[in-house]
Amino acid sequence: MKIPKRIQPLIEDGLIDEVLRQLMSGKEATVYVVRCGTEIRCAKVYKEAGKRSFKQAVQYREGRKVRNSRRSRAMEKGSKFGRDEQEDLWQSAEIDAMFRLAEAGVRVPVPYGCFDGVLIMELVTDDNGEVAPRLNDVVLTAEQARRDHDAIIKDVVRMLCEGLVHGDLSEFNVLVDSNGPVIIDFPQAVDAAANNNAEWMFERDVNNMRNYYGMFDPDLLETKYAKEIWALFEAGKLTPHTELTGHFEEPTEEADVDSVLQEIKEAFEEEQDRLARINSANEEDN
Ligand SMILES: Nc1ncnc2c1ncn2[C@@H]1O[C@H](COP(=O)(O)OP(=O)(O)O)[C@@H](O)[C@H]1O
Ligand SMILES: [Mg+2]
Repeated sequence: MKIPKRIQPLIEDGLIDEVLRQLMSGKEATVYVVRCGTEIRCAKVYKEAGKRSFKQAVQYREGRKVRNSRRSRAMEKGSKFGRDEQEDLWQSAEIDAMFRLAEAGVRVPVPYGCFDGVLIMELVTDDNGEVAPRLNDVVLTAEQARRDHDAIIKDVVRMLCEGLVHGDLSEFNVLVDSNGPVIIDFPQAVDAAANNNAEWMFERDVNNMRNYYGMFDPDLLETKYAKEIWALFEAGKLTPHTELTGHFEEPTEEADVDSVLQEIKEAFEEEQDRLARINSANEEDN
């Protein structure tokens, strides 16, 4: 096919030899199947800042480290230099996350590098060498759903132990090959400790997975992995080897709040009764 303009510099540098076809064009990026020497790989070309949407949202950026203070001031002011820096940071965030996660044993496409806003990674394929389907296109048996849900939970735990929360995990950002689920799409990944939105994003990510796999194995719908894992993480007790149960008892403080509210309600009702008795006594007197 005709070489897309953004890939041209990588062809000139010999990083890519041929663009075979376009795979997807989404909100944030266009993805191509490319040939690098004898290998077939995947090239993700980020859209320019103005054409991207939600993942740029400020809630994802909180806590991202900017080492150089001149850079961070420029970014705060939103100057041209600052916007370019923001753009570089955005584009390097995904490849940085992928290298870290691959190292931590999370199943992600093997990352090769990001050059001029083009990320080159392994093309995930099925047994026939076809591009692997996304989870939302896959029908599973209850047993497969349980097994794959388990694999995803292990991977989100490894991620969290590495200090990262995906932030956009859903059946659209999981590919399925013969070994099970492979997580993709990380540019918005958030820092678990530095970002105040990390907890609810983590819960949303894990519950999205529970709800999807739960369509095939309804027993999963009863599980509370998100809360169980986050509580262990906050207590500093989470490791990739922690045995999880899927159960979680709400903390007792919350139970106490309930019992206090119950006491207030009972006291209020007693007072109402007392006033009613006084009223009727007064009426009898008249
Ligand atoms: N490594 C890969 N192997 C196979 N298909 C991929 C790979 N990476 C992305 N895709 C396909 O491209 C689509 C878009 O990629 P994604 O990283 O999710 O970007 P977006 O931000 O546009 O959602 C995915 O839903 C998937 O179908
Ligand atoms: Mg995606």
